[in-house]
Amino acid sequence: MSEELKRKAAEAAMGEISSGMRIGLGTGSTARHFVDLLGAEVARGFQCLCVPTSEATAAQARGLAIPLTTLEEIDRLDVTIDGTDEIDGAFRLIKGGGAALLREKIVAAASERMVVIADDSKLVETLGRFPLPIEVNPFGLAATARAIGEAMARFGAEGGHALRRKPDGTALLTDGGHHIIDASFGRISDAEALSGALLEIPGVVQHGLFIGLCSEAYLASVSGTIRLSG
Ligand code: A5P
Repeated sequence: MSEELKRKAAEAAMGEISSGMRIGLGTGSTARHFVDLLGAEVARGFQCLCVPTSEATAAQARGLAIPLTTLEEIDRLDVTIDGTDEIDGAFRLIKGGGAALLREKIVAAASERMVVIADDSKLVETLGRFPLPIEVNPFGLAATARAIGEAMARFGAEGGHALRRKPDGTALLTDGGHHIIDASFGRISDAEALSGALLEIPGVVQHGLFIGLCSEAYLASVSGTIRLSG
């Protein structure tokens, strides 16, 4: 059922794109459906130029012969279509469950619009039930983790933090060669202030709070897909 809902959200977002557009391609299981659908359109002659937000999405897109470019080649994108781990009523997001948050944020910020696709379980009243992914430089990891823990305490986090690991137990490395620390807040009452506080920690490369980047979302449920816009 869940895959079906993700597919429905991706199908709905196809209405956001038109031939000739420059499109940011998100990462994750929902974005994967969108890339599949786009690939089918490209096979029928749809013109586009796309920037992928991860090596995984790039590989998928290449397999579907979707034309790819980079932000070195073009300045701006018309739209980015991406999944999310959480979205609240103000279109603030938590992303990074798939460890692609850094490239996702760079690509979203280079886009005129960011459209989120998700099943409606991702819509929350308050962000923070999903542990916040924080991308950190491997250098000085212990010091960075300590500083993150202190920031969490100041912001009233209900849980702890953990270095994300692969199934074999080794620390996960992102496409950019960084680690991810997952921070369990429970609820995030001041996302803007938390964003600033985390970015002040020298070892923090970026975090998964997306604020002011997304203004539209397609959320699919068993009773249909709704379009939210802010
Ligand atoms: C990737 O790093 C994430 O930001 C994903 O976009 C997010 O985790 C949503 O993934 P799913 O569509 O697989 O739930």
